[in-house]
Amino acid sequence: MTRRWTNDLTRDDVTPKGVWLNRRAVLAGLGAAGLATGLPASQAQAQALEPNTLEQITSYNNFYEFGWNKDDPAAHAGDMVISPWSITVDGLVDRPGSYSLAELLEGLSVEERIYRFRCVEAWSMVVPWNGVGLGDVLAKVGVQSGARFVAFETTVQPDVMPGVRNRIIPFPYVEGLRLDEAQHPLTMLATGIYGEPMPKQNGAPIRLVVPWKYGFKSIKSIVRITLTDSEPPTTWKRLNGREYGFYANVNPEVDHPRWSQGSERQIGGGLFARRQPTLMFNGYEEQVASLYEGMDLSVNY
Ligand code: MTE
Repeated sequence: MTRRWTNDLTRDDVTPKGVWLNRRAVLAGLGAAGLATGLPASQAQAQALEPNTLEQITSYNNFYEFGWNKDDPAAHAGDMVISPWSITVDGLVDRPGSYSLAELLEGLSVEERIYRFRCVEAWSMVVPWNGVGLGDVLAKVGVQSGARFVAFETTVQPDVMPGVRNRIIPFPYVEGLRLDEAQHPLTMLATGIYGEPMPKQNGAPIRLVVPWKYGFKSIKSIVRITLTDSEPPTTWKRLNGREYGFYANVNPEVDHPRWSQGSERQIGGGLFARRQPTLMFNGYEEQVASLYEGMDLSVNY
């Protein structure tokens, strides 16, 4: 079942393949997520978001298993095997095991959430994801009391992944969240975009989406979810911990050592479009700032 909760549009309003019409101004996914977290809609920053086209979302990607250029994932991900797909759930959980995608999602309703997406490289998009709350999936498998973090791992298919054969980055790509971040209502496991199954270059068949963090946290094509009691290794921190931290919260006040994070280039905005200011926590400050109370975000970057 698909439940829409982001705005007043119906499924009929969604143009399936890349011809999203510009006349629509839709509410941010956080409008509804704000409701889910008990915030009045007016406080939930009901900012109009104009989603990028499917064409833009599926042709400008980072998926280093398939290469370093933005068009490599679209060019090479076609051969990635995504069926059958199983996800190992292990560590500090009551019901560990190997779950098929259907088993993991059974009983949960797929929702559309329109989120801002901000890459650490200072470009951004707006994406209409379909998926489920990660917290609901975690509740299904039963999180044990000692768990404090969630670790994620991407599939490795060297035969069809030229980037894996290059060995510049250690694969599998791994990521992690603190448990409270993972259980936050904005955090989702996405299985589609624009009501279509997740395109391979975007992380088919299931990926993480954490809209207030830089895009590299949103790990693609997940095959393992592990509940742990300590901070798990993450790919970019491992490669360059000075430039990429574990938290990676979008923060215009904390620059990347090599470039400003104060503004961003919107994909599809055109060559001469003005950069737009980057928002604290990517515009989700009201929903997530309390997770980081008392933390120095320039230290925990
Ligand atoms: N997940 C895996 N497995 N491999 C990757 O290279 N790139 C990350 C993230 N997830 C990446 C990944 C980065 S840097 C970004 S910005 C987003 O995916 C890009 O998601 P998109 O291509 O759907 O926009």
